[in-house]
Amino acid sequence: MTVEPDDGSTTLRQRMADALRESGDLRSPAWRAAVETVPREAFIPGFFEAIDDPHQTMWRPITPELVGVRERLELVYTDETWVTQLNCSVSAFDTDVPVPGSPTSSSTLPGLVVRMLEELQAEDRSRVLEIGTGTGYSTALLCARLGQDLVTSIEVDPAVAGRAKQGLAQIGYAPELVVGDGLLGHQPGALYDRVIATCSVRHIPASWITQTRPGGLILTTMLGWLGASSGLVRLEVTGDGTAEGVFLGGTDSFMPARPHAAPVLGDDIYGWIDEAETSERGTDVGPEILDPWEGWATLFIAQLAAPDAQVFTFGTDGGPMLHHVVDAGRHAVAIPDAPPESSAVVRQAGAIDLWDPIEAAIGEWRVAGSPSLDQFRISVTPEAQTVWHGDPAGPLSWKLPTIK
Ligand SMILES: C[S@@+](CC[C@H](N)C(=O)[O-])C[C@H]1O[C@@H](n2cnc3c(N)ncnc32)[C@H](O)[C@@H]1O
Repeated sequence: MTVEPDDGSTTLRQRMADALRESGDLRSPAWRAAVETVPREAFIPGFFEAIDDPHQTMWRPITPELVGVRERLELVYTDETWVTQLNCSVSAFDTDVPVPGSPTSSSTLPGLVVRMLEELQAEDRSRVLEIGTGTGYSTALLCARLGQDLVTSIEVDPAVAGRAKQGLAQIGYAPELVVGDGLLGHQPGALYDRVIATCSVRHIPASWITQTRPGGLILTTMLGWLGASSGLVRLEVTGDGTAEGVFLGGTDSFMPARPHAAPVLGDDIYGWIDEAETSERGTDVGPEILDPWEGWATLFIAQLAAPDAQVFTFGTDGGPMLHHVVDAGRHAVAIPDAPPESSAVVRQAGAIDLWDPIEAAIGEWRVAGSPSLDQFRISVTPEAQTVWHGDPAGPLSWKLPTIK
């Protein structure tokens, strides 16, 4: 290990470790030692800071040349997610001034990275498969904790993978780095004791289960096309292609794993929604269930009930902003209404009503006492993946879409 001491980095790492212990994210001496060892600056030489702007988010480049060595280093050691790439190509070294853009790569906030590593329950000789190398910072922490020979990491984006490799080499690490689709796992390194994903999946890829030894653990977040995250989910592999998991709670989310992202619907969707012939009725399940600010639970339940639906929030003709749910020729929009008849009206279009399964699922969830996500479980077999509360065959039980 050849970490170069540099101006204040060691002290900043210790300070960050103290802060992460205070926040409860960092719990064990072994992971603390890893956090104190790995210089995060090797993985984010330049990055962007968001600037609040009433019209659009602007991104201020942060590099040692632009802000000075000390300020950049202080920012590296704050518990922040730093955006490292905009629009799939723009880095902080490409501009001297704030620019608009969409983030396409980032270094996850250290608090979440170490919380996940703690929840992974890796032991001294654990062989770990990581999905989503990203900048390589979490890969480096795994190397520091377990030794590079026990670490395999997969990144789908070749340019991102190349930069991670450089960062790792700079501090003396050479784990097995694979460029490819992490949803396929990496058979040559199997069997693994642990699988950890820092991108989010719609269902648990079969390869992760078959490439993990029985008794081994898989840690991931699950995300659906309505945008609701499961928070962390930890599964134990129980046998041939089977696993049982618990939802650990929280609101953590990651960008979707590339083949699991929702298909992009064209702008013609707005015209189609406008012109669709709708039926209208009252409902006790109003639009607030689609609001992530109300917590993930109801949005996650809606997503289980209508797994191929997407949500678009917009207003028409100066009207209020409304959540429109859309799924292959079907559309539903719930609009707040005056009680006591109902709390909302829902307008639906398409051959089969889209709001009905969502409404039924939320109704069952309310009858069961509105359990939070950390009271749900997941059961995986080669035939089906089921998310459930109470009883896998009961009313709060849904099959996940498992088509690749
Ligand atoms: C949030 S970043 C990872 C953060 C990283 N662990 C770190 O510490 O910087 C998620 C990464 O997952 C990658 N990714 C997305 N889909 C993937 C897939 N199917 N297989 C492997 N990597 C994927 C993205 O390109 C991105 O670099």
